[in-house]
Amino acid sequence: MANTSPASQCRLEPIILNDEDQFIELQRQRVLCGWDYDPETIKRWKVKQEEKLKSLFWITIPDSSDKDKELLRTGHISLDANSSFDPPELKNFPHVKNCVFSISSFFILPEYRSYGLGRHAMKMAEDMAVKEPYGSPNCRFIALNALSKRYIYDEGPDWRGVWERLGVSPPSFSIQEWYEALGYVSWKEEPLYEEKALNGDIVKLWEAFMRKEVQRIA
Ligand SMILES: CC(C)(COP(=O)(O)OP(=O)(O)OC[C@H]1O[C@@H](n2cnc3c(N)ncnc32)[C@H](O)[C@@H]1OP(=O)(O)O)[C@@H](O)C(=O)NCCC(=O)NCCS
Repeated sequence: MANTSPASQCRLEPIILNDEDQFIELQRQRVLCGWDYDPETIKRWKVKQEEKLKSLFWITIPDSSDKDKELLRTGHISLDANSSFDPPELKNFPHVKNCVFSISSFFILPEYRSYGLGRHAMKMAEDMAVKEPYGSPNCRFIALNALSKRYIYDEGPDWRGVWERLGVSPPSFSIQEWYEALGYVSWKEEPLYEEKALNGDIVKLWEAFMRKEVQRIA
């Protein structure tokens, strides 16, 4: 019997930011995500896309209620050329162009979560990273950063207590562990982002820097 689970029908479709509807839909999804929703940021992404430094994709599934099976945009993901943070293995490795790609701006709409779409989208982005036109045969690692799992497990106002200070509900699972289950390994943790606490304090959020070897190059 054919596999019709949402994940098995999931495809990545390029986001065309010159199309106003797609620009507006990406902005809507970014607002729901809570990060990088400023139209100016999305305009900068458009420039990076034109420079071939960023490839943004819709994470799609066919709409089963539509006889033409129009694609539903269940989320988005970006495969970026280069990474601002090189994995430690590269220290002893002669620098090769396009050796590292990174994944950023990854989001699945809440109503489509836990169907395996996120995992499937990551797998498709990893496959794209090692070949043209969006990746490169030189790609060895994918790098990304994720909120430290200490915010789930460690006691204290700077860790588990941070959610109360920010006035938001704690996440139901650790995104760092989610990436670990996909084979990503952390090499360092650093404070990277800032949020304002309810009392006006600035809270620095620690991120885990992670990478996965997607291709071994002799
Ligand atoms: C992270 C994210 C992309 C995952 O997308 P998704 O489509 O729900 O993920 P999948 O369905 O492929 O993953 C399923 C696994 O994730 C974990 N998971 C997902 N949602 C969960 C939840 N609400 N509670 C506990 N575990 C959960 C489970 O381990 C689950 O595995 P299982 O099905 O074997 O139990 C999505 O939750 C999201 O968009 N989150 C907000 C944005 C974000 O955190 N982006 C990453 C920034 S670094």
